[in-house]
Amino acid sequence: MSTTILHPLDDPTANPFAIAREAAAQIAEKTGVEHHDIALTLGSGWAKAADLIGETTATIPATEIIGFSKPVLEGHVGTLRSLLLPNGKRALVIGARTHYYENHGVRRVVHSVRTAAATGASTMILTNGAGGIRESWKPGTPVLISDHINLTANSPLEGATFIDLTDLYSTRLRDLARAVDPSLDEGVYCQFRGPHYETPAEVQMAKAIGGHIVGMSTALEAIAAREAGMEILGMSLITNLAAGIQKTPLSHTEVIEAGRNAEAVIGALLAKIVELI
Ligand code: HPA
Repeated sequence: MSTTILHPLDDPTANPFAIAREAAAQIAEKTGVEHHDIALTLGSGWAKAADLIGETTATIPATEIIGFSKPVLEGHVGTLRSLLLPNGKRALVIGARTHYYENHGVRRVVHSVRTAAATGASTMILTNGAGGIRESWKPGTPVLISDHINLTANSPLEGATFIDLTDLYSTRLRDLARAVDPSLDEGVYCQFRGPHYETPAEVQMAKAIGGHIVGMSTALEAIAAREAGMEILGMSLITNLAAGIQKTPLSHTEVIEAGRNAEAVIGALLAKIVELI
């Protein structure tokens, strides 16, 4: 007889906020840092930022913390890092993202955000690699997320939890980012389920309904971050033009490569932005 160990967040009677608090307590114990001020989820292409933002004082494999899942993807680093910033603040860097397309449920997708909030972080920086709908955005262009369209037909909120999503991606933080780089463009992020890339027709739909960026993460996390009362900064690295906008087929290898080529520049940009928060 084989026994399967239930993931704590897959138990429908579990309280995801209690598990996030437990995760935060484990992080405090393993890092020796009681309180983090800022949290960053670093998606494709953004990992370098961690080295530039501050001094790493602790690195923990994410799977040692309750509620975190094994990363499925090469190019996604499964660690949590605690950083000491030059201004004395503490940042928690989440290099372990559970994507909605992994089919583990929304609770697992937003666990890192809820844990970040439970560590005390009041700012959540969400980054990703994504497809661009605007033709002027060449691969390697960082773009601020101004708003999102959630095409997953799902929500991390449970029950009749009515949360306002106006100014979800903080105008204040976007202004601050533009103070670092006035050339930063912004756009509306459409979260598709994935893991397939969009069809050209879906990209045209996204464009018609007001989208500028297509990807497979971030929107559900942003909703959970807002529920937790955090201020949110969202940034996409355009790794490719979206399907049908670019004339050649999309490939995951190209996406990873575009991320790699841009990482020094966008890492430095993000580090400068974090300095101002
Ligand atoms: N679509 C969805 N997700 C992505 C893309 C894309 O074109 N590029 C990188 N992640």
